[in-house]
Amino acid sequence: MVPRDAIAKQLAFTLGAIDVPGLGGKYEGKVRDCYTVGDRRVLIASDRLSAFDVVLTTIPFKGRMLTELAAYWFEQTSHIIRNHVLEYPHPNVVITREVEIIPVEVIVRNYLAGSAWRDYEAGRAISGIELPKGMKKAQQLDSPLITPSTKAAKGSHDTPISSDEVVSSGLVEKSLWEEVCAAALQLFTFGSKKAAERGLLLVDTKFEFGVLRSGTGRAELLLADEVLTQDSSRYWIADSYQERFDAGEDPLMLDKEFVRRWLIERGYMGDGTPPTIPDDFRVDVSLRYMDAYEKITGSTFTSEIGSPAAAIAEVLKEVR
Ligand SMILES: Nc1ncnc2c1ncn2[C@@H]1O[C@H](COP(=O)(O)OP(=O)(O)OP(=O)(O)O)[C@@H](O)[C@H]1O
Ligand SMILES: [Mg+2]
Repeated sequence: MVPRDAIAKQLAFTLGAIDVPGLGGKYEGKVRDCYTVGDRRVLIASDRLSAFDVVLTTIPFKGRMLTELAAYWFEQTSHIIRNHVLEYPHPNVVITREVEIIPVEVIVRNYLAGSAWRDYEAGRAISGIELPKGMKKAQQLDSPLITPSTKAAKGSHDTPISSDEVVSSGLVEKSLWEEVCAAALQLFTFGSKKAAERGLLLVDTKFEFGVLRSGTGRAELLLADEVLTQDSSRYWIADSYQERFDAGEDPLMLDKEFVRRWLIERGYMGDGTPPTIPDDFRVDVSLRYMDAYEKITGSTFTSEIGSPAAAIAEVLKEVR
């Protein structure tokens, strides 16, 4: 763990936007700056923090933690499905194969939390799935569910869509969607088992898949984007879960829900002007991410203090 005072020092060096002139076509995501270089994609993880699809601030070391955590999971899950990773030239950067991203966020849930709980509470189905009446917040589902969402254009929110609609609307061809769902469930089961070994519950997560076409036109499904990070997943502490659930208390969380809750308490859910994020809170968020990183991987997070921008620009000079 990087000590609190060192994290506070890093506030001055967080990575906002990253410009690498001449590298290739740029797409600026909410969290990552992406460059397409031939058949490869360079994903540079900034320290930007987004919630409710809005970028709010930067968090010390966040980009590095996310890249390293995704790297851990890509490696761990490579026996289940091939992934897009080619190499890591810097702790904030991954070079991947450019794939045709399937335009659906593949969300898998094992507990009633987050937007699924908000939908359920409001009497709505969850991506077309009607859950039994009388369920409680944070309750475990009978088995993991896939609740897809469309990948919205930049600036708008993703919307839930049923699995049937994914196919009937022509977004994804039926057999490919079946392959995606099977892989997503296998990944989720594996991730849950690993998380359990670390005393954590994998609550829900979002996967992105893509299709890689070879010269001969053969298409292969790959796991893309990021995998099982705190930005794409919820993790709760396992040992206190049942007791807290029985007492009607929220589980202890290790994820971004902490940030969402802070915002909701201040009346913000993605519309209007977000509240100003105090530095102390930015340090708290960094500590949370670090704690999760260390619990999940079982290894210590370390980093020097200072701006990673120059080093990133330097290593990317080699990528052309
Ligand atoms: N191997 C890949 N090939 C092509 N695109 C990829 C690959 N891996 C990830 N992506 C895309 O790169 C972008 C990563 O950016 P980021 O997650 O920061 O942005 P985002 O705001 O989530 O973007 P979006 O809302 O468009 O998904 C996403 O659009 C993601 O779908
Ligand atoms: Mg994304």
